[in-house]
Amino acid sequence: MRIVRTKDYDDMSRKAGDIIAAQVILNPASVLGLATGSTPLGTYKRLIKRCDKGDVDFAGVHSVNLDEYVGLGPTSDQSYRYFMNENLFSHVNIDIKNTNVPDGLAKDAEEECARYEEVMRALGGIDLQLLGLGPNGHIGFNEPADAFARETHKVALTESTIKANRRFFNKEDDVPRFAYTMGIGSIMRAQRILLIVSGEQKAEILKAAVCGPITPQVPASVLQLHPCVTLVADKAALSALD
Ligand code: F6R
Repeated sequence: MRIVRTKDYDDMSRKAGDIIAAQVILNPASVLGLATGSTPLGTYKRLIKRCDKGDVDFAGVHSVNLDEYVGLGPTSDQSYRYFMNENLFSHVNIDIKNTNVPDGLAKDAEEECARYEEVMRALGGIDLQLLGLGPNGHIGFNEPADAFARETHKVALTESTIKANRRFFNKEDDVPRFAYTMGIGSIMRAQRILLIVSGEQKAEILKAAVCGPITPQVPASVLQLHPCVTLVADKAALSALD
């Protein structure tokens, strides 16, 4: 794992945005795996800026997002499809038809998971997967569990994740209890992985993920087995590793 240490959140965002920009410059037909949450917001702003300047062209890019809440559709402002449209897709020249997020309103969960795996397969796999780190070590919505999940599946969110995501909803009861997420296997098949982490509150879990035992109880620890992971993290997030 290559570790890029940054001063702060802004520095992390700039560097992560530039790594994604470099991927698209080198391969304009890249398939990008994308994430939501607070951490990538600055990274997306950086990409928008670089696209505005004409440095990066998203016309040939396809994207697949990690996850989506079950029960939320594109017009719900808490859905991950809405988040991606608002924070990235509507500000860069990506063709919206080339962007993929699991369908939170799908009638049949099993069919939706199989469809999403097929979308990734048909695209030829992910070139660069962006990941954030959950407070309990989750990646995507792969929560601590007894085994690593292979493929896209429907998952019950843990109390810790419901509490962590409560900040985006009016009340805790509004936080969906289920989500679709790429599996650990789907994530690990990406050619390259870019993990971004910021803040002291993630320091201990980042240490467990990077140096601790590889266990499904800390899902991000599986990244130790991936041949091409770049971790871009600020000083505060790396403080327990120092
Ligand atoms: C989001 C996702 C999650 C987040 C993680 C960290 O699509 O898959 O794993 O990356 O929960 O969230 P933030 O960045 O809000 O701390």
